[in-house]
Amino acid sequence: MASYLVSGAENLTLVRGKSPNDLHARALPRIGSVAINGGARSKAAVLRCSLSSSARPASQPRFIQHKKEAFWFYRFLSIVYDHVINPGHWTEDMRDEALEPADLWNPNLKVVDVGGGTGFTTLGIIKRVHPKNVTILDQSPHQLAKARQKEALKECTIIEGDAEDLPFPTDYADRYISAGSIEYWPDPQRGIKEAYRVLKLGGLACVIGPVYPTFWLSRFFADMWMLFPKEEEYIEWFKKAGFKDVKLKRIGPKWYRGVRRHGLIMGCSVTGVKRESGDSPLQLGPKAEDVKKPVNPFAFLLRLFLGAVAATYYVLVPIYMWIKDKIVPKGMPI
Ligand SMILES: C[S@@+](CC[C@H](N)C(=O)[O-])C[C@H]1O[C@@H](n2cnc3c(N)ncnc32)[C@H](O)[C@@H]1O
Repeated sequence: MASYLVSGAENLTLVRGKSPNDLHARALPRIGSVAINGGARSKAAVLRCSLSSSARPASQPRFIQHKKEAFWFYRFLSIVYDHVINPGHWTEDMRDEALEPADLWNPNLKVVDVGGGTGFTTLGIIKRVHPKNVTILDQSPHQLAKARQKEALKECTIIEGDAEDLPFPTDYADRYISAGSIEYWPDPQRGIKEAYRVLKLGGLACVIGPVYPTFWLSRFFADMWMLFPKEEEYIEWFKKAGFKDVKLKRIGPKWYRGVRRHGLIMGCSVTGVKRESGDSPLQLGPKAEDVKKPVNPFAFLLRLFLGAVAATYYVLVPIYMWIKDKIVPKGMPI
C-alpha cells in the first residue's frame, strides 16, 4: 500500500509543479508510510506534490454533488455497492491504512461514522471500538438497509441524517469519521464545520475522500461526476473550521503502484484535532442547497444520467490499472 503523510496547509500551497502522480510513480517508495514534516528532502517532495492544474471550484457542484441526485444515485448503487466499489477503490487494507490516523485506541471512544453507507468503514472502526459506541449516519435509507443486514453492526446505532446538519449535540463524540462521502456534499466546508461542532474538545476528525486527477480524460469525468478535492482544499477546510494539527495521509489501491494521475476515489485520509469546546469559530451563511425546493425533472434526470456515465469511467480505471500492474514488470513506473 502506498501511503504518505503531509502536515499543514502551507506545505501544500508552495508552488506550481509536478503532480502527485509523478511524485508517486517516480520519486517515492511505493510501499510503507513516509512522514513529511521538515528538512530538505521533505521540502523537495512536498514542493512537487503541490497540485495546481485548474480544477472546477468546489463551489460549482458536479452532476451528482447534490443531495437529491446523490440520494437517487445510491438508490441504485446500494444494490451492488459492496461488490463494485470496495474491490476497485476501497479495499480492507486501504481502510485500515486510512483509519490508522484516526487513533482508535480505546474501545470506549464514542464514534460517529458520517456517510457510513453500507457500513464498510464501520466494520474497520469496530475492530478497535465497541459497536455500541458507534453511530452510522447516512442520508440514504437504501445504503443503511445494507448496513442493518450486517451481523457485526447489530449493536451500532444506525440513523438517517445529513452530513451538513448533523443530529448530534455539540461536544458529543470523541471521533468523527467520514469515508467517501464528502464528494457528494454540496458544501464540504459546512460538513467539516459540523464535524468540528459535534466533537468533544481534543476529539479527532478523520475525513477520507477522493483526490483530484491530473490526467485530462480522468479530470473530465471527475468534474462531471462529483467533487474530487485537491489536497490543499481539504487542509484549508479543516483549518478554517478551527482544527489544529491538520494532517493528510495519502492512500491508494496497492496495484496502482502509487500512481495518482487518474485521481482516486479514496485517495487521502485527513485528520484534525478540535482545539476549543463549542461550535466552530467559522461563520457560514445559509445552506448551498435547499432539498425541499422543487427541481426541473428533465434537468434532474439528465444530471443523474450524465453523472452515472462519468461514474462508469471510474469503474473502469481500477481495472485498467490492475491490468497494467500485471503486465508492466515490478519496479517500473506504470
Ligand atoms: C461512497 S459511499 C461511502 C460509504 C461508506 N462510508 C464506505 O466507506 O463504504 C458515500 C455515502 O455518502 C452518503 N452521503 C452522500 N451525501 C450525504 C449527506 N449529505 N449526508 C449524509 N450522507 C451522505 C451516500 O448516501 C453514501 O452512502
